[in-house]
Amino acid sequence: MTATKPVNLWSSTDHARDYLERADSISHRGEGESALLELISPGTRRILDLGTGDGGLLALVQAKHPDTEAVALDFSPAMLEAARKRFAGDSRVTVVAHNLDAPLPDLGRPDLGKFDAVISSFAIHHVVHERKRTLYAEIFDLIHPGGVFCNLEHVASPTPRLHEEFLQRIGFTVETEDPSNKLLDVETQLGWLREIGFVDVDCLWKWRELALLAGVRA
Ligand SMILES: C[S@@+](CC[C@H](N)C(=O)[O-])C[C@H]1O[C@@H](n2cnc3c(N)ncnc32)[C@H](O)[C@@H]1O
Repeated sequence: MTATKPVNLWSSTDHARDYLERADSISHRGEGESALLELISPGTRRILDLGTGDGGLLALVQAKHPDTEAVALDFSPAMLEAARKRFAGDSRVTVVAHNLDAPLPDLGRPDLGKFDAVISSFAIHHVVHERKRTLYAEIFDLIHPGGVFCNLEHVASPTPRLHEEFLQRIGFTVETEDPSNKLLDVETQLGWLREIGFVDVDCLWKWRELALLAGVRA
């Protein structure tokens, strides 16, 4: 029997463009981003953004931390094009094409080494649960001691009714929600981060299914 490939519509240009048109109006998004910004320390020099989309979150972080260099990673051709457009002429940012279903590529630089902060917003829930766990471990290995992982994520609701309510509040239904979503509860993900070795692991902000999960590499 051949295994069915998990659905991920994000490589479609229409799917990416449809999201970009409504991305800024996602309920409570600004609150989650502000909570994430608080976690980026002044000494941060190198940032990795996983599933960067058009690079909006990374641009917010770099507006506050202009002396940083960054890698912005995504696999969607339309998103990569949008990110390259946003960061055109900005030598601080390297845009990298990579599918998060596969192990992270070598993103190190001999002179700069690993990352002080790995950030991500609303992206990692598009990979299957098993891959989320291995990806979190790969992220841990890429972070300098003292560095932080900040995952502003779409997580699972504890009950179907709460899931339906969330969808309704963001203008979707169970019929129209993105079939690419592979939502996982907060507790499991925080447990994985602790097992991997992150410390000060917590859910530092949450509105319904949007949550900021974070941990520090000691
Ligand atoms: C909901 S959008 C979020 C984009 C951006 N981070 C933001 O907050 O606006 C999800 C992003 O994850 C990317 N993505 C989904 N699955 C991916 C995968 N397997 N590998 C790399 N990127 C992926 C999509 O292309 C898209 O840019």
